[in-house]
Amino acid sequence: MRFDIISLFPEFVAQLAAHGVVGRAGERGLLSIHGWNPRDHAEGNYRRVDDRPFGGGPGMVMLIEPLCATLAAMRDDDPASAHVVYLSPQGRPLTQAKVRELAARPRIALLCGRYEGVDERLLQAEVDEEISIGDYVLSGGELAAAVLIDAVARLQEGALNDAESAVQDSFEGDGLLDCPHYTRPVTHALGTVPEVLLSGNHAAIARWRRQQSLGRTWLRRPDLLDEAALSKADRALLEAFRADWRHAGGASAGGDA
Ligand SMILES: C[S@@+](CC[C@H](N)C(=O)[O-])C[C@H]1O[C@@H](n2cnc3c(N)ncnc32)[C@H](O)[C@@H]1O
Repeated sequence: MRFDIISLFPEFVAQLAAHGVVGRAGERGLLSIHGWNPRDHAEGNYRRVDDRPFGGGPGMVMLIEPLCATLAAMRDDDPASAHVVYLSPQGRPLTQAKVRELAARPRIALLCGRYEGVDERLLQAEVDEEISIGDYVLSGGELAAAVLIDAVARLQEGALNDAESAVQDSFEGDGLLDCPHYTRPVTHALGTVPEVLLSGNHAAIARWRRQQSLGRTWLRRPDLLDEAALSKADRALLEAFRADWRHAGGASAGGDA
C-alpha cells in the first residue's frame, strides 16, 4: 500500500515511517510513504503557499495553485489512481470500520491543511473524502495523518508479529472493547492475576475474556452494546457481570442492553 502525504511539514510524518509497526510494515515492503511539500511546487521568489481570506477575518488560507501542482507531481511520479483524503475537523469521524475500509485501498493521498484550511474550490475538485480524527481542532493535518497511517498500517497483512492481536482489539469483530490483560508476576502489591487465566482451561479463559469484554463495554461505552449483536450466552454473561459489579458496590454505568 502507498501513502502520499501532502504537507508543508512532510518530515513530520516521515518520522512515523521510521518507528514501530509503521516502520516494520515499511521494512517488510507492505507500505511506502511519500512526502510532497506544496512549497516545492509554489511559484515566485517567496514560494508562497497561502494568502489572506476573501471577506476578511483572521488567518491564512492555503492556495489552490501550489496544491494543484503538488497533486500533478504526485501523479507524474506514479500514475496509479489515489484516493484523496483531506484531514479536516469537518470530516467524517475516523472509526475502526473506516480504517478497515481504507486499509483495503492500494493508494491513499493525505492532504494536510494548515492555518484556516484549504481553498474550498481545491477541496471540491480534488478531494474524495474528508476525515476527522475527533471533535477538536488541531493546528495542522499532520498529526491526524499520522494517526490514520498508524491505524491502517497495523491492518496490513504481515505488519503485526501476531495477526491475532488485531482480531481481539477493541472495535474489531463485533465492535466491543477488548478484555483486560495481565502478565508476570502473578502476585504483586498492586494485585493478583485472576485465577482463571492461570488455570490452563481454554474454554473457561475464553468465557472469562468474553465476559470482561462485555462488562467493560457496558461500563465504559454502553453505546457500543446497542450496535453489537449479542447472543443469548452473551446476555447471560453480561447479566452475571452486572450482578457481580453491583454486589461489589459498583455504580451502574450503562443502560439495560
Ligand atoms: C486550524 S485547522 C483549521 C480548522 C478550520 N478552520 C475549521 O474550523 O474547520 C488547520 C488544519 O488542521 C487539520 N485538522 C484540524 N483538526 C483536525 C481534526 N480534528 N481532524 C483532522 N484534521 C484536523 C486540518 O487539515 C485543517 O485544515
